[in-house]
Amino acid sequence: MTKQVTARAHTNIALIKYWGKENVALNIPTTSSLSMTLDQFYTTTTVEFTDKATDELILNSVSTDSTRISKFLDCFREKHGDFPKVLVTSENHVPTAAGLASSASSFSALTGAMFGLLDLPQDTQEMSRMARKGSGSASRSIFGNFAVWNKGNDDESSFAESFYDDDIHLTMIVAEISSAQKKMSSTKGMQLAQTAPTYPEWVRKSADQLEQMKAAIVAKDIEKIGLIAQDNALGMHEQNRRSLEPFDYFTTQTIEVVEFAKQCYREGLLAFVTIDAGPNVKIITDKATEQKLLQKFRSNFPDLTFEVAHAGECLRYV
Ligand code: PMV
Repeated sequence: MTKQVTARAHTNIALIKYWGKENVALNIPTTSSLSMTLDQFYTTTTVEFTDKATDELILNSVSTDSTRISKFLDCFREKHGDFPKVLVTSENHVPTAAGLASSASSFSALTGAMFGLLDLPQDTQEMSRMARKGSGSASRSIFGNFAVWNKGNDDESSFAESFYDDDIHLTMIVAEISSAQKKMSSTKGMQLAQTAPTYPEWVRKSADQLEQMKAAIVAKDIEKIGLIAQDNALGMHEQNRRSLEPFDYFTTQTIEVVEFAKQCYREGLLAFVTIDAGPNVKIITDKATEQKLLQKFRSNFPDLTFEVAHAGECLRYV
């Protein structure tokens, strides 16, 4: 029987963002980043060798262009010697409408599955390093709860590790804002952001915020976590607007949701936002506040869909 290996990885949302590359080919970032892995959204991936002439990808039961994953599998071939082509069968439980990037969970799950198929030692540091080459944020999805990706300065030193492996009752409410706007890829978006005159200052501030964020997580201080994450994310989007070719992932509804969260905070509720390379807003709160906040958002934005997520688990074999 052909050997098959199946791995599952969850997506993650950065509280301190990765938004810029020092080395494009190797995905070495300009900043270290810190994320929470989410329980709700994940990818399950099965790999097996095939005698076909090319690597193949079946995504959500549909045969899909495999160029990007084939390039990624070539990183394994370069490092561990050549092997036959691979059939990759992947199920994404990351709603596309939610605009959550599935690349973090996808490349993390594929990395785990390939380590199994190639009988490589289960070294999470090396898994993270490999996942990074598929998609930077995937380096963090190897781990559950809170992970830090230390930027490093070369292939060897740039990997993520578990920072705090416990649930601190932080909730993320994902506000799904659909957008007609064509999304700019994160790679292109970062490249432009790095041309902003204020970008070096954002990078400097990010290093301080990372240390403040670590302390806030250990202290389980959701208000501090939210305030820092919000400032870091809004700062990231400001770089896009100030770049040589200004662009914006926000839509009118993004701004309305952000403003409503700020209003809720002024009224005394824990409510903060973080936003990635798309229009959707992740509202940061705690478990004790989530239902009240959800109700307020639902009645204020009846046409939006909201999903509640908590801390999720690390990569595992299924
Ligand atoms: O991993 P990529 O290349 O899809 O970039 C992710 C970038 C952000 O999601 C916006 C921030 C982050 O740190 O995850």
